Amino acid sequence: MTTIIDGNSVAEEIQAGVEDCVETLSAADETPGLATVLMSDDGASATYVSMKQRTCEELGINSFHHEIDPEAPAEELFSKIDELNDDPDVHGILVQMPVPDHVDKRTVLNRIDPMKDVDGFHPENVGRLVAGNARYKPCTPHGVQKILDAYDIETEGADAVVVGRSDIVGKPMANLLIQRDDGGNATTTVCHSRTKDLAAKTRNADLVVVAAGVPEMVDGDMIGEGATVIDVGINRVDADTEKGYELIGDVDFESAKQKAGAITPVPGGVGPLTIAMLMYNTAKAASLQSGVEIDLP
Ligand code: GUN
Repeated sequence: MTTIIDGNSVAEEIQAGVEDCVETLSAADETPGLATVLMSDDGASATYVSMKQRTCEELGINSFHHEIDPEAPAEELFSKIDELNDDPDVHGILVQMPVPDHVDKRTVLNRIDPMKDVDGFHPENVGRLVAGNARYKPCTPHGVQKILDAYDIETEGADAVVVGRSDIVGKPMANLLIQRDDGGNATTTVCHSRTKDLAAKTRNADLVVVAAGVPEMVDGDMIGEGATVIDVGINRVDADTEKGYELIGDVDFESAKQKAGAITPVPGGVGPLTIAMLMYNTAKAASLQSGVEIDLP
């Protein structure tokens, strides 16, 4: 029997724990605040940002949303970041990626105060993660660790394959999996667009995490019997639905399910965890900045 992983229930449990932390912080007059900044016309990005704001409201986190015209000069975004860095009500800052081509992504990531960098993308936070002393673990790979933990899927000694080498998911996922820590200690291979014979690598893995941004690129033929398959992909493809599209993952769920021991669906797998871990990092940011101690889930 294949276990179909229920990301919504894992996320709900974490959010319940974060809500308790928010109560503790609010009782000490330190209600966590998250600022989201959107500089994009992309419908999917706008949807993700509004889901983040909605979850903030559900958990009692203050949310501050800022939109910048995608045609505006980069300086407009940089000065908004400076303003949020200086605002004591804002504990976390999230600039939704991608930003327009004329805005240098590295400058954006460097400009955010590393204490407020709840994405964990600032070079100081990336360095800390690699060094095994993470401040804010990037939300999606941290969420994958939480899923594995909730389903008692052991990473220690496992052969793990990460498909994709993005700064947001692939690289931090691999870094978490190799740490000498809970949810780590895996023998980890990172595959990408130049990898030779990808199927040979994934087929031999106990754990396959796919974050390539290519719809259904991993199918059942590429999965070993009983492996855990974590699908990070969320791809909008045209479909005859009310919205005119449907969401599919980077894994061909139907065929991969025939081989996997456990598998995440899309939607309802990793997606809800990304938001839950952003709430977690925002509560952590408020705690670190205020000195009020909390007991994170
Ligand atoms: N774009 C896609 N995923 C993310 C994320 O986790 N954080 C930010 N800031 N942008 C994203």
